[in-house]
Amino acid sequence: MTDRYCVFGHPVGHSRSPAIHAAFADQTGDDIEYIAIEAPLDDFAGAWRRFVAEGGRGANVTVPFKEAAFRLCDTLSERARRSGAVNTLILGGNGLTYGDTTDGVGLVRDLERHGVALAGARILVLGAGGAVRGVLEPLLAEGPASLFVANRTAAKAEALAADFRDLGEIAGGGFEAVEGPYDLVINGTSASLAGDLPPLPDDLFAPGATAHDMMYGAGPTVFLHWAAERGARTVDGLGMLVEQAAASFFQWRARRPDTAPVLERLRQEL
Ligand code: ATR
Repeated sequence: MTDRYCVFGHPVGHSRSPAIHAAFADQTGDDIEYIAIEAPLDDFAGAWRRFVAEGGRGANVTVPFKEAAFRLCDTLSERARRSGAVNTLILGGNGLTYGDTTDGVGLVRDLERHGVALAGARILVLGAGGAVRGVLEPLLAEGPASLFVANRTAAKAEALAADFRDLGEIAGGGFEAVEGPYDLVINGTSASLAGDLPPLPDDLFAPGATAHDMMYGAGPTVFLHWAAERGARTVDGLGMLVEQAAASFFQWRARRPDTAPVLERLRQEL
């Protein structure tokens, strides 16, 4: 029997998740159906219950439902509990809903694929919203020398860093507190969507440093364009998207798809 999965979002028509999971299932031979569902803004839990009643086994969750998904879970992974958000729902054999978030591990895997050393690295993360909260636990688990969270609203970065202080060397503040050089700078703000850049010093990057943007587009983002001009290697968020999907697929199917050909195809379609 075909197992059913979906991605919930609002809107969700632009989501690449159905194509990514179809490509994974082609590779592994898993018999699954994966669709996109636009859930109502005021009743995410109802949408999940209906999907389960129709044979749904698991789901991805995207904007704006990650916090609502977190609230409906019966049990949570440690990294989901830390991030306050869930991007992967799994229906257990007992009918209980288990929640995980694979964004952070997706980011770490993509950086590893690019040969970026995280252990001992000096890391700067820009932004202190939900996207950043979702990746801090896996980043700190890699043992960086230091991780500074810089945000337009400094108090938000300070509070966020305090929530993760028991896991490693992490601090937070405003952009004026940024003190390079860094080995890795990750942009988790939505600023580049608006064509804006946070105010950053020109000597941000150590020799051989990498700039990562969680966003992606047909060409380099505003942030990656700026970083390349200052000598950094650049990595956009498309690889993270495919890696987080692969980590969700593994949670559901206990099989790890090969992400490289799927990423290559998506890149051509941008
Ligand atoms: P997400 O879920 O994508 O993280 P969010 O929780 O709304 O969305 O967070 C957006 C992040 O982008 C925040 O860190 C925000 O900074 P503030 O906390 O100061 O609002 C940051 N951001 C958005 N637009 C920005 C801009 N033009 N310049 C700098 N930072 C910006």
